[in-house]
Amino acid sequence: MEMTPTPHNGAETGEIAKTVLMPGDPLRAKYIAETYLENPVQVTSVRNMLGFTGTYKGKEITVMGGGMGMPSMGIYSYELYHFYDVDQIIRIGSAGSLQDKVELMDVVIAMGACTDSNYAYQYGLPGTFAPIADYELLARAAEAAGKQGTKAVVGNVLSSDIFYNADGGVNDKWRNMGVLAVEMETAALYMNAAAAGKKALCMLTISDLVFGEEKLSAEERQLGFGKMIEIALEL
Ligand code: HPA
Repeated sequence: MEMTPTPHNGAETGEIAKTVLMPGDPLRAKYIAETYLENPVQVTSVRNMLGFTGTYKGKEITVMGGGMGMPSMGIYSYELYHFYDVDQIIRIGSAGSLQDKVELMDVVIAMGACTDSNYAYQYGLPGTFAPIADYELLARAAEAAGKQGTKAVVGNVLSSDIFYNADGGVNDKWRNMGVLAVEMETAALYMNAAAAGKKALCMLTISDLVFGEEKLSAEERQLGFGKMIEIALEL
């Protein structure tokens, strides 16, 4: 049975590369494709979740938006792994720091992802699953950040279903467990990768401080994102 295009992805089989870079924002995907890829071609625009395939240093790469939250990431990454035979998805996103040592503009490389979501329920496991990054991708990303001179902090993140949480105290609890930063997608990506037997990595620039007032300016946001894109393109 031909599974592509899907209800969420207009690309044909073969139009998507084995490596997919996935920012949350589809316009960021467009920006990355136009700025960094040679001969980028738009391969999907369903729901404006734009995707582009081109080459970087001769290697075929797709950049596609993934949206916000685990349900959205769950849909796009599942289809990429299972219906488009993608080998590796590298999420490049932003996150709020939960730790004093994790500062604005730092890159957090998510070794593992805690979650308050029920996403793992589907697997019927007799315990809790620990969603983790592909070690090889993680090691190479950490090395590339070091060569670039970018401060990268490797560790746990929280993938939360809730941006505006009614219980303001939850962040303290995750902070006390050493969780570096909070975002909303990584756990779904890592679980989908595990269930598909594929590879995933998530890198996050710190755009805000959960326990502080400082925020990134638009220029800093762009600069921080650029450094992370350059790391991701090498993977
Ligand atoms: N919470 C959740 N997701 C985020 C945040 C945050 O504070 N910052 C950037 N993405």
